[in-house]
Amino acid sequence: MTILAIETSCDETGAAVIKADGADTKVRLLSNVVATSLSLHAKTGGIIPEVAAREQVKYIIPVIEKALAVLKNPQKEIDAIAVTVGPGLIGSLLVGVETAKTIAYAWDKPIIPVNHLFGHIYANWIKTENDIEIEFPAVALIVSGGHTDLVLMNSHQEIKWLGGTRDDAAGEAFDKTGRLLNLSYPAGPEIEKLAKGVEKDVYRFPRPIIDSNDFDFSFSGLKTAVLREVQKQKVLSEENVKDICYSLQEAVFDVLLKKTFTAAIKYHAKSIVLGGGVAANQVLRGKFEQYTIDHLPSAKIFVPTKSLCTDNAAMIAAAAFFNDKKVRWQKISANPELYFD
Ligand code: KG4
Ligand code: ZN
Repeated sequence: MTILAIETSCDETGAAVIKADGADTKVRLLSNVVATSLSLHAKTGGIIPEVAAREQVKYIIPVIEKALAVLKNPQKEIDAIAVTVGPGLIGSLLVGVETAKTIAYAWDKPIIPVNHLFGHIYANWIKTENDIEIEFPAVALIVSGGHTDLVLMNSHQEIKWLGGTRDDAAGEAFDKTGRLLNLSYPAGPEIEKLAKGVEKDVYRFPRPIIDSNDFDFSFSGLKTAVLREVQKQKVLSEENVKDICYSLQEAVFDVLLKKTFTAAIKYHAKSIVLGGGVAANQVLRGKFEQYTIDHLPSAKIFVPTKSLCTDNAAMIAAAAFFNDKKVRWQKISANPELYFD
């Protein structure tokens, strides 16, 4: 089966082509094209939905054309079109959904609607060079700019939401702190860079609800804790900024580790799967690897390559293959509020 996937939930325009068949445990990536309007949003310190949607319109056709260029006869070779239907920004989502519907109508192909959050998880089911099979049960942690969710997967069909953030997402905590420290948007990568080399957790920011008896998260208090520190300093020295970045990372990652491994131990997970933009962070990846060795050596940890952590269409194609629910193009619509069932 060959799938063309389209992802336009936020500020990235993605199209990808994958190939996989019934017995395959991972999908083979034939092409993966991403255009981003991030530099425009950096200027405004955040995403302006109308601007993001307008950029989606500009990029969508060239991005799809480029992704399809790997096929000799796309119309004949494509079996289905996968598209992100939510969650996301309504204007951005509509561009991808309506384009997918148009292609499906013109080429007479079925559509597979995909939840963006499942996409982040399924970025791990794309073939890489040294491939290891992901065994169930798996505990998946989605850490992106908009979401922080823990999910239990007993199989591809049996996926259960365990908990999520009550307020800000992990990535949002980075981005909002970045604004307080005058860093560029999105701040995650720069915070990682600035924290490098710092060895002491000077500020010991709170670890919100780390010991609560559930799998929920809450990161909104962190920006207030950072703000308090920023207000205390007369001049924010380079060293202060670096120390704050390091302490923020430690606080957020401690909570993510504790909750994920509590779930993994409780549900006897054989695999721990990370996804989403924050999973691109090298420190986070290292901590999860070490924690697995120290606390749950029977499990294996999986993290997508960096380019597959942030928004892309390859992950949408993978999710579509393993949760293949083909529908006619008339049956789908964008749903910005889509979440887990
Ligand atoms: O998954 P993603 O591309 O978009 C959403 O679906 O939200 O995630 C973007 C988020 C941003 O908040 C960004 O600051 C964060 O991922 N991020 C990082 C890193 N790279 C991106 N956070 C921490 N460290 C990084 N290296
Ligand atoms: Zn995302």
